[in-house]
Amino acid sequence: MNGAERTRDGATDGDAVLRAIRTRRVVRALTDAPVEPERLRAVLDSARYAPHAGNRRLHRYVVVTRPGLLRALRMVSPGMLQHPAAAIVVCVDRARVRAYGFPEDNPGPFIDVGTAAATMLLAAHGLGLGAGPVTSFSRAAVAVLLGVPDGVRPELIVCLGHPSPQQPPPVHRRGGPAWDDLVRWEGF
Ligand SMILES: Cc1cc2nc3c(=O)[nH]c(=O)nc-3n(C[C@H](O)[C@H](O)[C@H](O)COP(=O)(O)O)c2cc1C
Repeated sequence: MNGAERTRDGATDGDAVLRAIRTRRVVRALTDAPVEPERLRAVLDSARYAPHAGNRRLHRYVVVTRPGLLRALRMVSPGMLQHPAAAIVVCVDRARVRAYGFPEDNPGPFIDVGTAAATMLLAAHGLGLGAGPVTSFSRAAVAVLLGVPDGVRPELIVCLGHPSPQQPPPVHRRGGPAWDDLVRWEGF
């Protein structure tokens, strides 16, 4: 479908994408229900469609669904305020980064963590799941818990679950800056 065609409810694809972007929120209030394997796979698959520096896939994704392991992850992740039913730990394979020829200080692989995470968060939202990123965790402890090999570093955790019916009201968007407060045209 190209941009001019409309779906049955009259929205264009572009409208649907914008609606998804605007309605996505970090969801921290989750039920105990497990995430269905097909939805989990769809979220993981979405990361392949994120833009990646050099079009290389230098990341590895560790999926955690075992309750005991999720509890252990929470214990070493002060930023994990939710009780996720599944977690996807996005890791940068630094050996592959070096082999690809990225200098140590090249931000590309870290930006890729963000593009993959943002894509998975939107995919989860589109699938009716609640999702939220966490970067406040002990990289060393998570690496030990998950058996992450030397040279591979956990950088971000995407928490997933079913949104609980009771959600806190969104606090920041109404009072936040308008887009044009953040933008300079044709130069800073
Ligand atoms: C790089 C990054 C790190 C984040 N780390 C955490 C975290 O450790 N714990 C957490 O609860 N939320 C974390 N967040 C979520 C932000 O707090 C959240 O996106 C922000 O408050 C805006 O809320 P919204 O996404 O619902 O609009 C992180 C977001 C980003 C982009």
